[in-house]
Amino acid sequence: MTDKFDAFADFRMDGHNVVLTGGAQNIGAGIAKTLAGAGANVMIADLQGDKAQETARQIEAETGGRCFGMGCDVTRAEDIDALVKATVGAFGGISTLVNNVGWGPRHDDPTAITEEELVDAYKLNTISAYRMSMACLPHLEKAQNASITNSGSFSSAVPAYDILGYGTAKAALNQMMISLAHMLAQKVRVNTVLIGTVMTEGYADAGLGEAMQERLKHPDNLIGRTGQPQDIANAMLWLTSPAAGWVSGQIIKVHGGGSTVRLFGE
Ligand SMILES: NC(=O)c1ccc[n+]([C@@H]2O[C@H](COP(=O)([O-])OP(=O)(O)OC[C@H]3O[C@@H](n4cnc5c(N)ncnc54)[C@H](O)[C@@H]3O)[C@@H](O)[C@H]2O)c1
Repeated sequence: MTDKFDAFADFRMDGHNVVLTGGAQNIGAGIAKTLAGAGANVMIADLQGDKAQETARQIEAETGGRCFGMGCDVTRAEDIDALVKATVGAFGGISTLVNNVGWGPRHDDPTAITEEELVDAYKLNTISAYRMSMACLPHLEKAQNASITNSGSFSSAVPAYDILGYGTAKAALNQMMISLAHMLAQKVRVNTVLIGTVMTEGYADAGLGEAMQERLKHPDNLIGRTGQPQDIANAMLWLTSPAAGWVSGQIIKVHGGGSTVRLFGE
């Protein structure tokens, strides 16, 4: 008798070596746990080095997989070089890059944003992803099912005037992803998950939780809840695994069904 067909086989990440930025907490930590749980070796790179190591230890305990953490500022070229060297030293190669770092300043008065803040948002959200991609490229080119996947933002697609620097930098990331997918055609798949509002500790700490829950009652919010890190991790697993082997140059929206209702204050 032949073995039963395994519909999950293509979603396994065995033999994959992942570099994931900004994985010490929240969405990144969820992605790291899911990829490690699917069989990948995962290196978490984060500005918070100690927290990255602690998260990695927890993930190893929960999944039985291999997960390491290290301190890294993705806006510094020398830190990126050290990260790539450490990952190749630990795992023997890199097959998968997840550019998850991202952030930007919020202004109640959008005209208050400074040029310096605009440039800093671009450096963190866009240039870091380009630098990471180029630094990992020699290793990605040697790997099976190589991919680069970015954590994008719904604010790149809808008006986001109170987070202007962040929204425009994430919009640039979308364009860069499509260009890279063409540059690296038939070698490395490149995609972006366009993320909606995921309830993280940051939002809760900023007191945004209750107001968001109220706005989520609007019927334009098709699913009617904020996202969880696992919602994003599931999409990342698909896009990085062999199951998405025919998917490149795409923006995959994971945002609760496409609401255009602003979840933040006016
Ligand atoms: N949470 C949301 O609702 C939401 C919505 C849309 C998009 N996103 C995107 O998803 C990604 C993760 O979001 P999150 O809410 O989990 O973020 P978060 O702020 O909770 O975590 C980001 C991590 O990146 C690390 N980091 C920051 N600057 C860094 C740097 N220079 N070098 C290395 N690490 C650095 C932080 O230490 C932190 O651990 C980001 O790209 C964000 O823009 C989030």
